[in-house]
Amino acid sequence: MLFEESYARVIGQGVGIGDKGRVFFSRFYSIFFSKSQQIRDKFAEVDIDTQVVVLQKSMFHMISFYETKTATEYLENIAQSHNRDQYGIKPEFYDIWLESLIETVAQLDPEYEDSLALAWQLAMTPGIQFMKFQY
Ligand code: HEM
Repeated sequence: MLFEESYARVIGQGVGIGDKGRVFFSRFYSIFFSKSQQIRDKFAEVDIDTQVVVLQKSMFHMISFYETKTATEYLENIAQSHNRDQYGIKPEFYDIWLESLIETVAQLDPEYEDSLALAWQLAMTPGIQFMKFQY
């Protein structure tokens, strides 16, 4: 599958946190932070090296939601921590999150092509909708 092959090229296979994943998510955060001051402010107190690892871990749960349409407890917990009562992540920020993720793929996947942007969008959208819905 297009998405899975691209994922393996840019992040790697398996559940371990490898060098590829670190490079990918570090690049993701620099793109994401370049999009808005409001986003940078949300992360003002956050250790980005740790965040790179937790985001990589959460990808497994995003993909699992896409494949099974059932949220793991982990994804439920993230959705709650991001809601209006906690981190207060408004739905529109998720669109920027996804856009930044796809820009990262475009920069780092040597086999990037337009159809891959669609493949990544389709794979991430269920999890994103789940997060937005619990805002
Ligand atoms: C589907 C998209 C996203 C995923 C999978 C995700 C995942 C995570 C995870 C796993 C954590 C650490 C666990 C936790 O605190 O609950 C976290 C923390 C956080 N996320 Fe997200 N996130 C997403 C979108 C966003 C967006 C759009 C923002 C907007 C600015 C954001 C801002 C934050 C902040 C501020 C923290 C807190 C870090 C801390 O205080 O330690 N996240 N996220």
